[in-house]
Amino acid sequence: MKKMKKLLLACTLLLSVSWNGTAQTEEKSIRIGTDDSEMIFKVADNGRLYQQYFGKKLVDYTGLEQLPTKHEAYITNGMEDYFEPALRMTHADGNPSVLLKYVSHTEEKTPYGTETAIVLRDDKYPVTVTLHYTAFDKENIIKSHAVIVHQEKRPVTLYDYASSMLHFDRESYYMTDFTGDWAREVNMTEQKLEYGKRIVDTKLGSRASMFTSPFFMVSMDGPARENSGEVLLGTIGWTGNFRFTFEVDNKKSLRIISGINPMASEYTLQPNEEFVTPEFYFTLSNEGTGKATRSFHDWARRYQLKDGMKGRMTLLNNWEATYFDFNEEKLIDLFDDAKALGVDMFLLDDGWFGNKYPRHSDTQGLGDWQETADKLPHGIGRLVKEATDKGIKFGIWIEPEMVSPKSELFEKHKDWVIDLPNRDDYYFRNQMVLDLSNPEVQNFVFEVVDNLMEKHPGIAYFKWDCNSPITNIYSNYLKDQQSHLYVDYVKGLYNVLERIKNKYPDLPMMLCSGGGGRSDYEALRYFTEFWPSDNTDPVERLFIQWGYSHFFPAKSLAAHITSWGKQPLKFKLDVAMMCRLGFDIKINELSEEEQQFAKNAVQTYETIKPTVFEGDLYRLVSPYSGNHTASMYVGKDKGTAHVFAFDIHPRYDEQIPKLKLNGLDPAAKYKVKEINLMPGNTSALSANDKIYSGDYLMTVGLDIFSAGALKSHILELTRQ
Ligand code: GLA
Repeated sequence: MKKMKKLLLACTLLLSVSWNGTAQTEEKSIRIGTDDSEMIFKVADNGRLYQQYFGKKLVDYTGLEQLPTKHEAYITNGMEDYFEPALRMTHADGNPSVLLKYVSHTEEKTPYGTETAIVLRDDKYPVTVTLHYTAFDKENIIKSHAVIVHQEKRPVTLYDYASSMLHFDRESYYMTDFTGDWAREVNMTEQKLEYGKRIVDTKLGSRASMFTSPFFMVSMDGPARENSGEVLLGTIGWTGNFRFTFEVDNKKSLRIISGINPMASEYTLQPNEEFVTPEFYFTLSNEGTGKATRSFHDWARRYQLKDGMKGRMTLLNNWEATYFDFNEEKLIDLFDDAKALGVDMFLLDDGWFGNKYPRHSDTQGLGDWQETADKLPHGIGRLVKEATDKGIKFGIWIEPEMVSPKSELFEKHKDWVIDLPNRDDYYFRNQMVLDLSNPEVQNFVFEVVDNLMEKHPGIAYFKWDCNSPITNIYSNYLKDQQSHLYVDYVKGLYNVLERIKNKYPDLPMMLCSGGGGRSDYEALRYFTEFWPSDNTDPVERLFIQWGYSHFFPAKSLAAHITSWGKQPLKFKLDVAMMCRLGFDIKINELSEEEQQFAKNAVQTYETIKPTVFEGDLYRLVSPYSGNHTASMYVGKDKGTAHVFAFDIHPRYDEQIPKLKLNGLDPAAKYKVKEINLMPGNTSALSANDKIYSGDYLMTVGLDIFSAGALKSHILELTRQ
């Protein structure tokens, strides 16, 4: 598959070069490494592939040959292994076993690292599994997936088909998952892994991560720490059912198996058809979760997130300002608010479509993507024009994978809907999911965007929502292959998103799923940002943003000022300005002073965006640890930094700790200035306008936290 300059190490090659440069015979070692960490695989005498090492990059490999080959790289089922396999299948003749032997591997240098493909083959059946690893040297990220193919005479059935299997031999393991529900996403819970299995998975289909997110951390030899310790951060790029299995065995070894959730998803594979698993992305940090986070952010911006190196637009959204109750005039008035605020764009939310069943509430209309004539008599065209005339961009909400039973689409195409023929219907938010395994439905979903763009090329942004999980699962299209639906749904979705990206490469899109029900790095190849939660209460957001920040850079997290929460506007803005800022509020209900403050904040935000979007995140004090929290972003050249500090609910007579900063140049001097103050206010902080060394700021710290509830500060540090 990789055609460029290949360094082929064929199966016949018995002589390879060891890592310290000396010749090694009769052994094949394969190193998958970055500047910081590496995995070493070895082909043992029995011809099978073992993960011999995964840890910090070694400076000298002498002694490595002593390491046992006990952890098979991609464990199969039905032979001598007693624990959870990566691959389980039945052959065409009904034999339920697989035994994989090394065939060959290739390594290809890329501008950012190395791509390695290791070919394994069953020694009795024509089944090939190729393990792909892409290492990003500087960012210390490795991604891996597997490709399964066979040449048996008849189809085989895959039951388990992991993207990745990793092995660890450490004293102890502490796993953190990110779980919750609607409006309380990504609560971090850490637990020690003991003998047995801990499974983190989802069966929700479309709104896959409503209860649990597709990422985790495993800290070795003790609970995870921010700036020290060995920790693995991993995430699966699959916008559907995923499963992480953490299994500690009788020898205290940990195996982590990541991939599509195989539940109700056995896959019939035709001869020569390739089953390509999704990518699993991971980083092993030796300096705690902070470094792992910065690795993910750098990598995502450079290589994964759509428009990762580009800016993002500030916006005014009308969802909470109007809900479904708006018309043309009301919206055009809101454009003036957007203009007055100084944001880049107006985003029209749900409620603009449907005529036979107008979308006046969430009970109907999904699927009928034509403007409601009595609400918008001159259509989207007028709105785009008015917005453009006022000097702002126009964005629009869609939920194209869904259908309301009360819609013309449903009346016309019942067979396009995922629904069991002989059961009572079940509606989640009064809606159902379209069957994206069906190419006709894929065309329809593509055309929701394409028709709008063809008619109104001025549309500058989409918010793509997805509120319902898949329920009553049955596809009219797949007929006798129902167990393909969860997988083929996601493939169908990618097909649509790929077509949109190809035709409209510069169109920014926000991924939303009733809040943070979708948040994976494969989807983020097509989306510039995602909506972390419908909960915009800023105190809640401090926790939610803290959680997501482990994997996702600030520019990918949309944060809007709304009426959720009774905190002062200043507190709300200070929280939202740590991410991609927007507003979803009735501006005219703010006091004059608040309106002025909001306008100033939009200006201030423009000045801090370079560090927040492109800089390094240092989490300083966790909201989980008590009554205060703080994080800071440091520009790559360490010349500018922004500190965000919050007092949530300090206790009576609490001893207030100094806030120690991080990531600065210890030898440099920095001037501290408090910014984003309410009009007319001056900073009461003793550090304001003072100069400190980076060393002092990081070792001694500043008095920023206070005993006042819901107080917040943004500090700008400028190297002198
Ligand atoms: C979901 C989204 C909200 C909003 C509504 C509209 O709940 O998360 O932001 O767009 O749908 O119905």
